[in-house]
Amino acid sequence: MKLADNKATMSFSNGSASVDLPVYSGSIGPDVIDIRKLYAQTGMFTYDPGFLSTAACQSAITYIDGDKGELLYRGYPIEQLATNCDFMETCHLLLYGNLPDAAGKAAFTKNVTQHTMVNEQMQFFLRGFRRDAHPMAIMTGLVGALSAFYHDSTDINNAEHREIAAIRLIAKMPTLVAMAYKYSIGQPFMYPKNELSYAGNFLHMMFATPCEPYVVNPVIERALDRIFVLHADHEQNASTSTVRLCGSSGTNPFAAIAAGVACLWGPAHGGANEACLTMLEEIQAMGGVSKVGEFMNQVKDKNSGVKLMGFGHRVYKNYDPRAKLMQETCNEVLEALGLENDPLFKLAKALEKIALEDDYFVSRKLYPNVDFYSGIVQRAIGIPVKLFTGIFALARTVGWIAQLNEMIGDPEYKIGRPRQLFTGAERRNVVEIGKR
Ligand code: ACO
Repeated sequence: MKLADNKATMSFSNGSASVDLPVYSGSIGPDVIDIRKLYAQTGMFTYDPGFLSTAACQSAITYIDGDKGELLYRGYPIEQLATNCDFMETCHLLLYGNLPDAAGKAAFTKNVTQHTMVNEQMQFFLRGFRRDAHPMAIMTGLVGALSAFYHDSTDINNAEHREIAAIRLIAKMPTLVAMAYKYSIGQPFMYPKNELSYAGNFLHMMFATPCEPYVVNPVIERALDRIFVLHADHEQNASTSTVRLCGSSGTNPFAAIAAGVACLWGPAHGGANEACLTMLEEIQAMGGVSKVGEFMNQVKDKNSGVKLMGFGHRVYKNYDPRAKLMQETCNEVLEALGLENDPLFKLAKALEKIALEDDYFVSRKLYPNVDFYSGIVQRAIGIPVKLFTGIFALARTVGWIAQLNEMIGDPEYKIGRPRQLFTGAERRNVVEIGKR
């Protein structure tokens, strides 16, 4: 970041002296006002719940222009990455800042592939869970537990440890998600098959059984790989900021990523694809397309508490570029699997059509986000709804770890410690229990 030509001046109506604040420019995007010395200079904090106007860090990884509907990983548009690169190339890009050549890609893929197995003890740990446990509850536990298994990569301040932890996390997430699934349906765990691609191996661990050969369907493999690419990183969203905040205390990378998994679970974030599918199923049960109007009236009624899941985004106020790409994949998968007439897909299209024309949504700049379509694709692939957010976590792991490593390498990094505007009781004395 570099100092901008201008500076900001903050003045006060009560006659206190005004203060000058430095302004910095990044390579693209809004400038930032540096308020780090504001408290020392004025005794005042800034107030920004939800970080609506606050840049919490500097980062060179992912850039979003919410008004243009643009998403860049290390400068490359998501549309080009989704069509020309696979997930391994995307991981390399996010972690190291450049797209690998063929030899670099082969070496990176081999490195990841060699770490796909998890310690055999992990399955005994997994067995402590109820069979009907939510996969995200299991994933939070399993990812956090990795730190108990890989003691040689838990020092966040050691670059070599961070590198091994990054590769291990990317390699082992598909294995853990598939194990959580197999456990829920009472099937034997399938060991990774390293001759398969990253997405192909995941499909194998999810859907193969030891009883018969499993052949990966290339259309599904490509669709899954695209889901991974589209979800790989997304700037300083809630789960990424959670990983950064958690990691800022110096905790180990596995613990920090487990915190990200926990945050992602929420329906306003990564849980939206599950919530979206659940919503579609509920409308379908009510009567399907004929009930869309009634449902939309509920969404528009502020007192109902009903939201159109898969719509709206904190940053994208034009369209979510990932949603367009996901819609393409959705059409491709449904066609390949002969599911074009799938009633839930028809229902989703009907909801989307109304929402894109309705003034409530248009005036609030609410557009479909990536999760509106990714749930339909995953359902068509045969992934159970409860596992959707687990797939998202798998894909986002590379983004989390790239952002975590970037933070640790930033000389300006400090433990994250927000302040507050206190509105509680002032100092008072404890009264003896009998006299209260
Ligand atoms: N359905 C109905 N109304 C909505 C929706 C929605 N999905 N999203 C926003 N609104 C309305 C709000 O009620 C508000 O209306 P008002 O101005 O009359 O009060 C207005 O649009 C602005 O919404 P905010 O909540 O202020 O927007 P914010 O940026 O805080 O929220 C969020 C973004 C959380 C994503 C929200 O749009 C939402 O809950 N969407 C549904 C959940 C979802 O799909 N999340 C996935 C996010 S993408 C991802 O994590 C990959």
